[in-house]
Amino acid sequence: MRKQIAAANWKMNLSFQEGEKLLDGILGANIRLAPDQLTIFAVPFPYLLMARSEVGEEKNYYVAAQNCYHKKSGAFTGEVSVEILHSIGVTYCIVGHSERRQYFDESNQVLAEKVNLCLDNFITPIFCCGEALSIREADKQNDFVATQLQESLFHLPAEKITRVIIAYEPIWAIGTGKTASTAQAQEMHAYLRSILAGQYGQKIADGISILYGGSVKASNAKELFGCPDVDGGLVGGASLVATEFIEIIKGLKK
Ligand code: PGA
Repeated sequence: MRKQIAAANWKMNLSFQEGEKLLDGILGANIRLAPDQLTIFAVPFPYLLMARSEVGEEKNYYVAAQNCYHKKSGAFTGEVSVEILHSIGVTYCIVGHSERRQYFDESNQVLAEKVNLCLDNFITPIFCCGEALSIREADKQNDFVATQLQESLFHLPAEKITRVIIAYEPIWAIGTGKTASTAQAQEMHAYLRSILAGQYGQKIADGISILYGGSVKASNAKELFGCPDVDGGLVGGASLVATEFIEIIKGLKK
C-alpha cells in the first residue's frame, strides 16, 4: 500500500514552548503507526531541531520544513536552503503551499526548482496544489491543477516522481472551516492520479501518496481518509490542538 500520511502544518503559529508542549502531548499518546503510516510535523524553522529531538527515534514520525529557497546557496539573506535543512537532518519540506504562492508570488517554475533541489538533497517535497474558489465556480479546477503538476513536477524522471508527496488543497477550504466533500476530494484525487498515470504509467501513479488539505479536523478526517485515492491529510488549524491531531492520526487508513 502507498504511504498514508498525517502531516501537521503549524504555519506561523505557537511559541517555542507551546510547540514543545504540543509535541509532548501528541507523542505522549503513543500512537503506534503501521509500517505504511507516517506522521510529519512541519514546524517553523527555529523549531526544527527541537522537533527532531522530540520525535527522536519514534518510528515513522518525521519533521518537515514549511518552505525552502529555490537557489542552492549564496547571498540570499534571510533564506534557508535545502542543503541547510539536510545538514540538520530534515527529510521533508512543504513546497508551494497556496499561502506561499499567494503572498510570496511563488510561480510553478520557481517551485520546480525547489522540487529539484529537495530531491537532490535527500529531502522529500510535499508538493501542494489546489484551485481558488473562482476557478472551481468556473469548473476549471482540473485544468488548473493539471497545469500546476505539469509545470512543477512533470519534468522529473520516473525514479524521482516516486519520491514526491502531493497535497491537494483547494484554497477555498483552507482555514475556512469549509471542507471539500468526500465526493469532491475523491474526484480530484482520482483525477490527479489519472494524470500521473498518463505521464508515468499506472504502477507509478498508484505508489504516489496524495494528501487532502483544507479544514481537516478530528470529526471529518476518517471519512476523508477513507476515500480510496485520499492518502491522509495536510492539516493546519487542527494540528495545533493535541487532542484533534491525535484523532486525525488515528483516522489514517490501515
Ligand atoms: P487548514 O490548513 O487545515 O487550517 O485549513 C491546511 C493547510 O493550509 O495546509
